[in-house]
Amino acid sequence: MKKYKEHVKKNIVCFILGPLFMILEASGEFILPFINANIINKGAANRDIPFIIQNGVIMLVIAIGMLATGVLGAFFAIRGAARAAAGVRRDVFAKIQTLSFSDIDRFSTGSLITRVTNDITQIQTFMQSLLRGFFRSPVMLIGALIMSFALSPDIAWVIFIVMPVLALATFLIIKTASPRYTVMQEHIDSLNTGVGESVTGIKVIKSFVREDFERKKFSKINNALMEKSIRALKVMILMQPVSALAVNVTTLAVVWTAGRQIMIGSMEVGTLTAFITYLSQVLTALNFLANIFLQGTRAAASDKRISEVLNTVPDITDENAKDYKIKSGSVEFKNVTFRYFKDAKKPVLDNISFKINSGETVGIIGSTGSGKTTLVSMIPRLYDADEGEVFVDGENVKGLLLSELRECVSVVLQKNTLFSGTIAENLRWGNEDAADGELEKVCRIACAHDFITSFPNGYNSEIGQGGTNLSGGQRQRLCIARALLKSPKIMIFDDSTSAVDTATDAEIRRGLGEKLPDITKIIIAQRISSVIDADRIIVLDDGKITGIGTHAELLKSCEAYREIYLSQTDDNDEEAV
Ligand SMILES: Nc1ncnc2c1ncn2[C@@H]1O[C@H](COP(=O)(O)OP(=O)(O)OP(=O)(O)O)[C@@H](O)[C@H]1O
Ligand SMILES: [Mg+2]
Repeated sequence: MKKYKEHVKKNIVCFILGPLFMILEASGEFILPFINANIINKGAANRDIPFIIQNGVIMLVIAIGMLATGVLGAFFAIRGAARAAAGVRRDVFAKIQTLSFSDIDRFSTGSLITRVTNDITQIQTFMQSLLRGFFRSPVMLIGALIMSFALSPDIAWVIFIVMPVLALATFLIIKTASPRYTVMQEHIDSLNTGVGESVTGIKVIKSFVREDFERKKFSKINNALMEKSIRALKVMILMQPVSALAVNVTTLAVVWTAGRQIMIGSMEVGTLTAFITYLSQVLTALNFLANIFLQGTRAAASDKRISEVLNTVPDITDENAKDYKIKSGSVEFKNVTFRYFKDAKKPVLDNISFKINSGETVGIIGSTGSGKTTLVSMIPRLYDADEGEVFVDGENVKGLLLSELRECVSVVLQKNTLFSGTIAENLRWGNEDAADGELEKVCRIACAHDFITSFPNGYNSEIGQGGTNLSGGQRQRLCIARALLKSPKIMIFDDSTSAVDTATDAEIRRGLGEKLPDITKIIIAQRISSVIDADRIIVLDDGKITGIGTHAELLKSCEAYREIYLSQTDDNDEEAV
């Protein structure tokens, strides 16, 4: 509840005025039938026209007042709920930004999206109903009860028979529907994940002609959601008929009892009319409360899911970090072991130890899935080692401020992303204040300047979401330039030139070596040609280091390296060197 308190406080005016106006409106509801009864009983029965007009005018004024208070009440309720929900949404979004990679893996992206959107909307709807009905309904209920007893205690008791029956029926309906809503929510999660994946991967889907497969997969999720929604809603639709039945049966009982009293002259027709109106008000109020309760149970399920995000303690934090300024780009791994799934038997990285001096260029090579990406992810603490330590500039990375560490370690991720905006805007992710000259400098090193200036708008060309209107190699070069702009101490290239031709790849490496000699460069590559000139090459196989040395040394000493080398020279002489 703490998470709502702050936002309720901020919008306290709405949270007070909303219910207040709704209560005022409800007061009108139970005064009107009373006056109406008087008009029929006294005015109409005695043909007292001035009395009828006078009371009619009062009714009109009250009706207008109810309109005004009703509109104002609804306005403040909607405003309060929307503003508070927006506040919570902002909090959840901010929290997601602090989550570590493994936290995000655990929640799944689709589920996080549902939590920020759908779940918070549930809370908003509930808050809105609460503001509109939580005080109004009891006031209406009690008011109508008092008025009916005041009118005729002889028949008012009927209400006490129908109320518990209706309450029991409502309770049973909600009890059945509520868990079904939770299941429905989980299916919305799967739907979001599915849609997200298909839409992002639409090009791959098309190129593999997998549209049919995707359609079927989507149909399955969609049908499952549909069935679960029907399962939940078919219980809920009972609510309306059940309360209608209750109203009708009670009305019948009242008319039956009152009819006889009217015949013997102990009750007037106007009183009966008013009574029936009060009766339906009691039932409407009960119905509204039941609905709030139902929305409450749905909101509680959503609240739990929101809390899960908000209460996640990111497993990577820098709470105990010291304010240390990283001066050199040396890296050291000491007996590092890591598993993505902590209960997995075989580790993804197994007892890794090596040392890279500041300014060195180190290549990492190894078959796909051998753990190269995982290994370099430990340096900027995208993941934390389970055992062993990682040092940067001689300091354990766990003791450094994350901002400082990530400022100094620039990673060109294997799966890189550009954002919609201009090329210059994307580059400035690396450094907001970079001057145009600096942009050009890094783009020249990354061999991106020429293709950028070939666009009509140059650096101000718009790029589509994810960089859709660029070629794979162009995207990679922009990502390299963006990472360079951070002026890091350590640069990590994770297969960052895989889509760039060999000549350009070599030119980029030459540029890096000449222009940025002091930066430590770690280059993961599939092609031996990309790492052949490195000061040292680390060979990784199945999570273990099988060799460290220069190209020439490894050719002699490392069987795995020789195999990779031979496979590449056999297949394609040109690429190998
Ligand atoms: N986020 C993740 N969650 C769970 N397992 C993962 C995750 N990322 C990678 N793995 C697993 O860890 C192992 C090593 O993966 P990694 O990405 O480090 O390999 P890699 O050497 O970079 O491969 P490639 O050359 O194909 O990029 C693989 O078996 C992979 O299935
Ligand atoms: Mg990889």
